[in-house]
Order: sequence, then structure tokens, then C-alpha cells
Amino acid sequence: MVWHPCTQMQTLIEEPVEPILSADGPWLFGENGQKWFDGIASWWTCLLGHRHPAIVQALHDQLETLDHVMLAGFTHPSAVSLAESLVGLTGGALTHVSYASDGASALEIALKQSAQSWRNQGLPHKTRFVCLAGSYHGETLGALGVTDQAVFSEQYRSLLRAALVIDGPDNRRAHCVGVSPQEEAAQALERLEALLKKEGSTLAAFVCEPLMQGAGGMVMYHPDFLRGVRTLCDRYSIHWIADEIATGCGRTGTFFAVEQAEVWPDLLCLSKGITGGLLPLSLVLSSEAIYQVFLGDGVGRAFLHSHSFTGNPLACRAAVAMLDFLREENVLVHNIQRGHWIERALKPLQDSSGVANLRRLGMVFAFDCIEGSGRAKQIQVQAKKRGLLLRPIASTVYLMPPYLLNEETCHWLGETLTASVLETMT
Ligand SMILES: Cc1ncc(COP(=O)(O)O)c(C=O)c1O
Repeated sequence: MVWHPCTQMQTLIEEPVEPILSADGPWLFGENGQKWFDGIASWWTCLLGHRHPAIVQALHDQLETLDHVMLAGFTHPSAVSLAESLVGLTGGALTHVSYASDGASALEIALKQSAQSWRNQGLPHKTRFVCLAGSYHGETLGALGVTDQAVFSEQYRSLLRAALVIDGPDNRRAHCVGVSPQEEAAQALERLEALLKKEGSTLAAFVCEPLMQGAGGMVMYHPDFLRGVRTLCDRYSIHWIADEIATGCGRTGTFFAVEQAEVWPDLLCLSKGITGGLLPLSLVLSSEAIYQVFLGDGVGRAFLHSHSFTGNPLACRAAVAMLDFLREENVLVHNIQRGHWIERALKPLQDSSGVANLRRLGMVFAFDCIEGSGRAKQIQVQAKKRGLLLRPIASTVYLMPPYLLNEETCHWLGETLTASVLETMT
């Protein structure tokens, strides 16, 4: 029997998991002829919808030549081509790519590269990390250490090396206390600087999701915060790790969210949508400065971290096809219009008494239920009846749909969510 993730298996007796037999575009098909719109792109992965023909074709082509080869001692065109494309997208600000599989394994690489690079420079005491309150960076032990979500980490407290935590910026709080998002960002930077001043000499890196904390509840904030993070990390000699596992690949409007702040981190993690959701792949882009300190005689200085499927050719080829498609079809430019269509269809929620903080960043649409997670659950149930799959985070209901939607589907999506909310309020 399958042990399902993120699930109390005891509840499956009353609420069994839904069998899905096939998928096409944004649609998932159940075993009794049901059809649901994948409103959160299967945990934010299927950016072009399911089984996108360009990626399926690329996988067929790859299978005709090379299925897998280990990346130590060998290389292959798909790994090289993907690394070159990604480095190009950073304009050369980041120069080297380390491959892994899931998001959490990318965080492990980034955390280890940061700490080891200090060690290689004769600073072995710089080993601690700082993260934002409410952060989520994955569930392996290293990633959990920089995750500030008790529900996931409390059970493993004694196994973890917990990071230092600061309150980050939140546009909702800014609105609540009547300050601008820029002022809110400035206040969070003051808190960060106070911590770095005190602890900087023992710190390896600050880690955050740029512009939005996703699993933390779609907490959006001003790009000024990232500009300030760059300055402070330089001032106090610590790395900045940008976790773009949720925000990357165009979700916030630009390919990398950090582009909106016009600054680059030292290490950047990508995963989820990078293969269009067809295969697991994650990666870390590293700066030239970090890469250089791993060079030298002997393996002691090298970054020995590896996984059996590091740089799997199928996964890399899917990612190359995904990047080609985004560029050739101008997907992110078309998303501007799609975002407006969905936003317009959600507008009636602004006047709904149970809804607070209706917000959007690129192709992320979210609001909070004033009455809490119980109401969010009711909305999820209503939406499913209407053919829309959601998965609220506590009291936050959100859409993170696949990108390739026409006007009619965008309206249907927004209107279906709106109707589901209003139904629960009557
Ligand atoms: C920002 C962020 N980082 C890391 C992860 C972990 O990724 P994975 O579940 O693929 O290990 C997630 C997953 O939701 C995430 O949203």
C-alpha cells in the first residue's frame, strides 16, 4: 500500500485519495469519467500543463539516444545545453550548475556549498544559516533546518540544526499597519542587519524565497527587500541563497523572481517547473567566486556531493525543451494578459466579507479566509464539485495554474473559484 506524503493516513478511511488515470493540458481525469482543472499545477510543477507535446517529443528523442549515464567522469549534451541556457538567463552572474532531483536536494547542495566554500577559505566556523519566519525550503534534514514551519519540523527537532529566524517583510502587514510595502521591507532589513551585526562571523548564508514565500502562505513582499539583502550579505560577508523552486521559471512574471530586484544571489535553487513537471529535476546555480574556492589539489577542497541520477539526460532534455518553449512562444509575455483575465474574474471577491488580502504576483492569485482554515477547506470542497482542484495552505486559498490558458479558460477559472467562495458564504 502507498504511504502518501503530507497525509495523516488514518483520514483516508473517511476521505480516500482520488485516483487519477490520465491528464491532458490543465486537466486531470478520474476513474469514473470526472474531469478536474489542476488549479495548483500539481504542486506547482506542470507549468505548460500535463504531457505538453514539445516536452513529450523531446523525451522521445532523448530516449532514442541516451537514457542515463553517471555525471562523474562523463557528460552529455543535454546536461551541458541546460547549464549553458540557465547561465545565459542569469547574464553570466551565476556560472556553474549542480544537478539534483527534488527541491529539498537542491537546498542541501546550496547549504553545503556555502558552508564548504567558507571552510575552503579558512573560515570553518561560518556554518550557521538565517531564514525567514514562516519559511519552507523542503523536508530533508538540512532543508528542514532552514524551514520555519513547526508542523513539519517539530517531530525532528532533536535531529535538526535549526537556523536563526528573522521576521521577513509581508505586504499584508504593511497594509494593516498603514505603511508602504517599501517601508515594510526597510523594517525587515533593519531586523536582518541587527542579526548579521551580532552573528555575522559565524554565519554561512541567508536563505529566502524571493518576492514571495509560497508554502508559507503566498506571503508577497517588495523587491526592495532583496536589494537590501544583497547589500547586507556583502557588508557582513555571508552568502545569499535564493530559493526559486516555487518562484522561478516565470511564476512571478520574470523567469527568475530576483530579476525584479535587479540583483543576483550567490546561490540560486530551481526545481518544480523546470522540466514542465514531467520529470523530477533540481539544480543549483553558483557564482564564479564560490566555484573558484573549490578548485585545488586533492579531493578535500572539491564538492563531492552526488546522487545516482545527478544530471539525468531525460530530465535535462525535458528542461531544455521547456526553456526553448518558454522563449520561442514568448510565454511570459502572454502570461501578462492571462494574469489580467484571471484577476478580473476574481474581482467580485474583493467585496466578499469573508475574504481578506486578495493579492496577485504574476501567475499566483491568493486570498485569506477571515474565518480560518475551516472555511478554506469548504471552498476546496465546493471548487472540486465544480471541476477545480485546489489545495489551500491553512486559511490561504490560492491558484497557481499551468500557464497555457486561453481567455475562456482564464475566465472559467476565476469565475469558478469566485462562485465556490460565494457558495460557502451563503
Ligand atoms: C520554496 C520551496 N523550496 C523547496 C521545496 C522543496 O521541494 P521538494 O518538495 O521538491 O523537495 C519546496 C516545495 O514546495 C518549495 O516550495
